[in-house]
Amino acid sequence: MQTLHVRLGERSYPIHIGAGLLGQPDLLLPHLQQKRVAVVTNTTVAPLYLDRLVALLQASGVAVTPIVLPDGEAYKNWETLNLIFDALLTQRAERKTTLIALGGGVIGDMTGFAAASYQRGVPFIQIPTTLLSQVDSSVGGKTGINHPLGKNMIGAFYQPKVVLADTDTLKTLPPRELSAGLAEVIKYGLIWDADFLTWLEANMDKLRALDPAAITHAIYRSCEIKAQVVGQDEREGGIRAILNLGHTFGHAIETGMGYGNWLHGEAVAAGMVMAAETSRRLGWLTEADVARTRALIRAAGLPDVAPDLGVDRYLEYMGHDKKVEGGKMRFVLLKKLGEAVITGDVPTDVLTGVLTAPH
Ligand code: NAD
Ligand code: GLY
Repeated sequence: MQTLHVRLGERSYPIHIGAGLLGQPDLLLPHLQQKRVAVVTNTTVAPLYLDRLVALLQASGVAVTPIVLPDGEAYKNWETLNLIFDALLTQRAERKTTLIALGGGVIGDMTGFAAASYQRGVPFIQIPTTLLSQVDSSVGGKTGINHPLGKNMIGAFYQPKVVLADTDTLKTLPPRELSAGLAEVIKYGLIWDADFLTWLEANMDKLRALDPAAITHAIYRSCEIKAQVVGQDEREGGIRAILNLGHTFGHAIETGMGYGNWLHGEAVAAGMVMAAETSRRLGWLTEADVARTRALIRAAGLPDVAPDLGVDRYLEYMGHDKKVEGGKMRFVLLKKLGEAVITGDVPTDVLTGVLTAPH
């Protein structure tokens, strides 16, 4: 097991990464304020991992309320969130009852938001079971739900008490979901660490085969970079926005294509190519840099071409992005591979060029 820490003063917490962690309730027990938890999961993850977790917690004297939600990005909404509140109130969950998110980013984001708002805030723990949630969504405290007009538009910053990333859970993950997680791993190389990008190019086959050493290293380095960025800027006043490389384009793709049709990671992958292409048109990246980015994304089993939504629809959906300031869109682009920049200065013709029939 490897452990690293997100350093946020009194809201600091450990991230444990390794095989077999779900079988170690001792990693959770010190973080419970009372021997009572609600485990929030979904209909796909429950048959795989819920019973084991519940049995281990109960054997340690912890009372458990399981809450099983429908599965899918399309359910990341008010109605499903309310199912969590219904169960918590019916079971008379208290202020010190911990909510445990057992699942991917959808479950993590919704459970975190429920924890932030139930009785004005109860403790919560993340047990991410997808690669995407292990390298990104379970770390850093962004929680929330979607609105029909925009992704993740309703939510709160709310940090977990501990994150438990059990790499064994990735063995049941469909390959398409594994690839979606690799999009966020590639993101860290592009925005922060050119050496990591080179390592990813050399190890992509091992990662897709879930080689234990390679996958643990990729998760560790990704969380390390995220922890460093979030430690500097928890509430995204500035630098944290670089974690959204490809996301402004990506959210437009997700919204435009209907939630769940393009996976978040797939939309981010195609969005990162659009960001790289924008950076090339601004003279920062070379054609070879863009080709390298595309090749790595394809090697991860991800799309490197965005759907043609039409410029107007792209601009409409991108206008709902949380980075919009004073009505002006802001973009995360690349000064070079391994170095991100946040800018509002993208000339209209450059943007229109990238959005017109993406290829
Ligand atoms: P997801 O939660 O929908 O999980 C993907 C699919 O895999 C689901 O069908 C899920 O039930 C299933 N699954 C989960 N674990 C499994 C396992 N071990 N074996 C088999 N199947 C399993 O999607 P995701 O990619 O994990 O997360 C995407 C979500 O995360 C989006 O809503 C996105 O907005 C959000 N997100 C949030 C942040 C953040 O900082 N909070 C960052 C990135 C993404
Ligand atoms: N996924 C972007 C962030 O956590 O800031």
